[in-house]
Amino acid sequence: MKRIGVLTGGGDAPGLNAVIRAVTKTAILQYGCEVFGIRDGYDGFLGDNGILPLGLNDVRGILPRGGTILGAANRGNPYARKVIRDGKEVTIDVSEEIVKGIQRLGLDALIVLGGDGTLHIAHELYERGVPVIGVPKTIDNDIGGTEVTFGFDTALNIATEAIDRLHTTAESHHRVMVVELMGRDAGFIALQAGVSGGADVILIPEIPFKYETILAKVRQRVERGSYFSILAVSEGAKPWGGSQVFSRGGDEIYVPRLGGIGQTVGEYLEKQGVETRVTVLGHVQRGGTPTAFDRWLATRYGAAAVRLAAAGGFDRMVALVRSQITDISLAEALAVPKRVDVHGDAVVTARGMGIFFGDEV
Ligand code: F6P
Repeated sequence: MKRIGVLTGGGDAPGLNAVIRAVTKTAILQYGCEVFGIRDGYDGFLGDNGILPLGLNDVRGILPRGGTILGAANRGNPYARKVIRDGKEVTIDVSEEIVKGIQRLGLDALIVLGGDGTLHIAHELYERGVPVIGVPKTIDNDIGGTEVTFGFDTALNIATEAIDRLHTTAESHHRVMVVELMGRDAGFIALQAGVSGGADVILIPEIPFKYETILAKVRQRVERGSYFSILAVSEGAKPWGGSQVFSRGGDEIYVPRLGGIGQTVGEYLEKQGVETRVTVLGHVQRGGTPTAFDRWLATRYGAAAVRLAAAGGFDRMVALVRSQITDISLAEALAVPKRVDVHGDAVVTARGMGIFFGDEV
């Protein structure tokens, strides 16, 4: 193994730089390899300026930094790229150019840090001869086969702190505070931050809710002397028989953008005479310095990905299983997206402590 590439695809997540650093240091110090960073996800293989040689000096000081020194691209699907041809916008497949770009660079391994979209592309590239290895990244924690993705712990801590802060102001003003949290179709951030921050109601995509029951819960709390309530609402939550709320539709490049369910729930409560404020935490959950746990996990993932490359374990993803780093096939990781187990101990624990999921009267 002589040359390793590393790229960061999809939305950023805290810990990307820690993985890049671990890959670079392990590849150079343990295996004597050359390392190349690919800028802006797969896009880096297309232009003239997309390849960044990485030496030990280039990764110095990046461990605590959020974002990614390589840049990321949410619209980086090589199978569907929008370009202007004859004055018209058309979608084209540039995957062949990407495969050629990888071959030109002579990579013995391409380490891909990504969520499901980026890892699906990695798997497809493997089938075309590219020696890929995946590292599971996303604040949503929705990748199968691994206990946790890096980035999740940081988002969870930020969301929990936000709930703590909302608590004091909610209590002072006897109000309902709704906080909309990220997570796409998985409710892990809302569930775990909700429990950790002592939310009264948690709405997640895996458990459809009924508006009336939330109102009943808020009123019941008032009757019992708690004049405020905290609602942790996952952006993908939806009412029984209803749909998720999107702030923007999707197309061949972008997935639809979730957003607005917090506001919808808040407006419902206000109409029922309950004073309510809504906070959308948004990209704050992805920004800034990673927690120690994410740095630790990201470092272990990055180093393990290089070891896997040296062992020729391509088309596989590093994973955390029973707190140990292992690897699984990309096909297995991508087969079933991970979701909150609605009968699992986390939900059972929350229910047992009186936290309400909006699904019973
Ligand atoms: O997948 C990570 C995530 O932050 C989701 O939680 C959220 O729905 C989405 O990305 C936001 O994407 P964008 O950065 O394109 O707005």
